Amino acid sequence: MTSEPATSAEERAQAAEDSLSEIRAKVADGTPLVGSIATSFQRAVVAADPFATEETLLTLTAVRGAHLYETLVSWAPFVAGERVLDVGCGAGGAAFAAADVVGPTGFVAGVDVVPEAVRAAEGRIPAGAPILFRVGRAESLTTFEDKSFDGVIASLLLDWIDDLRRPLEEVARLLRPGGRFVASVMAFDRLRAADAEFMGQVLAVIGRNAPGALAGRASRASIPDEPDDAQAFKDAGFLTPEELDVTLGAVMERPEDAWPLFSRSLLGAILDENGQKDLWQTLADLMPHTLYIPVRFLRTRRPG
Ligand SMILES: C[S@@+](CC[C@H](N)C(=O)[O-])C[C@H]1O[C@@H](n2cnc3c(N)ncnc32)[C@H](O)[C@@H]1O
Repeated sequence: MTSEPATSAEERAQAAEDSLSEIRAKVADGTPLVGSIATSFQRAVVAADPFATEETLLTLTAVRGAHLYETLVSWAPFVAGERVLDVGCGAGGAAFAAADVVGPTGFVAGVDVVPEAVRAAEGRIPAGAPILFRVGRAESLTTFEDKSFDGVIASLLLDWIDDLRRPLEEVARLLRPGGRFVASVMAFDRLRAADAEFMGQVLAVIGRNAPGALAGRASRASIPDEPDDAQAFKDAGFLTPEELDVTLGAVMERPEDAWPLFSRSLLGAILDENGQKDLWQTLADLMPHTLYIPVRFLRTRRPG
């Protein structure tokens, strides 16, 4: 359990909003969104809206019938009685999908760096289910013992982390020999030309209103193919990950269709009120559009 918060839910939500306003003002003035300010921004976005990932991405049409969390868990694959850790668990969607598979004789733990996300996940644990959530960082999962999991999952986490070396070393430490690591990441290297053009217009809004946000690497194009990432997998002792590409489709007729997808993402959250108006107008001008969002699933194992 998380320790009892000293403040009310409203006060915490207000604190997250205040932190976002402060960061937006700096980034609008050109302060680069890198390092600790980027980390504070990510955390404040999750704290202000812990269900954003689940509620936006899970409404999209899965072009090949895929569901983000079920694909992750079924591709591992996990079986009844196994122990699974979900790193960067957010509101717990992937952890609960794993819990459905490993059942009452298994065990699922979830870890997220944002306490509000952990609280949101804890609030959804069915009575008596062998699931626990903890506040923690992927870089230092010290609450858990060596070789204590059959599987580790990371749903849409790796592209939020600049340096994968420590997190992957931690995952390798926690897995038993032969244990599986399965992750999903956005795969922007597979964006269609029409969608790259669409995203270019959205990024131009960011450039006009929050220029500092384009200074840092908000997301990678391609994990694990970028050399640093490939090396991090290797150095942690993992076999080269197998890849499974899935495409999600967002059919957008009107700006109201596009808005939830962008306004609740990191892209939308960095914009102040004027920036959000600019984004709305830009999206309106781009309608109708069907955006294909590429997601890549990675699967590897600890040799042994
Ligand atoms: C895009 S969300 C995905 C949430 C969830 N896994 C899902 O798929 O619904 C990324 C999550 O990773 C968490 N996160 C980012 N960096 C982290 C780190 N270094 N250690 C642990 N969690 C982290 C964020 O707080 C956020 O909840």
